[in-house]
Amino acid sequence: MTTVYLNGEYKPLLEASINVLDRGFTFGDGVYEVIPIFNRTLFRFDEHMQRLENSLKAIFMENPYSSIKWRSIFEKLIDTVEQSEQSIYLQITRGVSERDHDISLADNPTIFAMSRPIVKQELSAGINAITHEDIRWQYCDIKAITLLPSVLLRHKAKQQGAKEAILIRDGYLTEGAASNVFICKDDEIFTPPKNNHVLPGITRDLLLEILASNNMSYSESTISEGALFNADEVWLTSSTWEIVPVIKLDNMPIGTGETGPLWQTINQLYQEFKSGYC
Ligand SMILES: Cc1ncc(COP(=O)(O)O)c(C=O)c1O
Repeated sequence: MTTVYLNGEYKPLLEASINVLDRGFTFGDGVYEVIPIFNRTLFRFDEHMQRLENSLKAIFMENPYSSIKWRSIFEKLIDTVEQSEQSIYLQITRGVSERDHDISLADNPTIFAMSRPIVKQELSAGINAITHEDIRWQYCDIKAITLLPSVLLRHKAKQQGAKEAILIRDGYLTEGAASNVFICKDDEIFTPPKNNHVLPGITRDLLLEILASNNMSYSESTISEGALFNADEVWLTSSTWEIVPVIKLDNMPIGTGETGPLWQTINQLYQEFKSGYC
């Protein structure tokens, strides 16, 4: 039975419940984080805590806990799960208030966290993706729980036999429905710059760090839809997927239509970093 943390208490998942007037439920008024655990170690904990802090600030909330307290909650949850590869899900909503938009009515956040085993999918042979207009809002840099657009986009991808929707805003690539995107052309690596249309992915930033420390050049620059389709390789990054090659986009092959050589190199460097870290 999964153990979860809810507002100061650890309890079995089935015994954890919240008030129906929680603003997370009525308004989607909250933020979340997903932190991977490898070898029972919180991976890039400080970076995830910083992004949480930024998300909370952007929705005019304070972080209810210090990093030390968060770490101790997560470590207790990790101990309740048998598998060594897990992911922490944590969600903070503005809490309960009458159903009124006014945020000053809520002063007691709802704090929820759990750890789950990462169910490893074999994606190294590459996945299919679709492209889609970026139908989301203007604050995609906030890790907000309000995920209906992403849910619909992933559903559309699935309907077309694909695993991810790669999003295009005004003719330029932003990111995936739940991942960041990299492309390679003639051995050069590109990813869109961070702005309000892109979630600052922790895996994205780590990949750039790994590239820099291996003297591999990259550029954070706008990528047109045409450049995306013309890429030799396309990769998606996320905490649970890590680095996944895209081999088909809208049913057309990317490059040779197979996992590319740069991905092999990068993925190996990423796995080495992970082993060293954890
Ligand atoms: C919209 C979006 N972009 C990017 C990412 C990747 O972020 P991270 O590498 O921090 O998991 C996610 C992860 O869920 C996401 O939802």
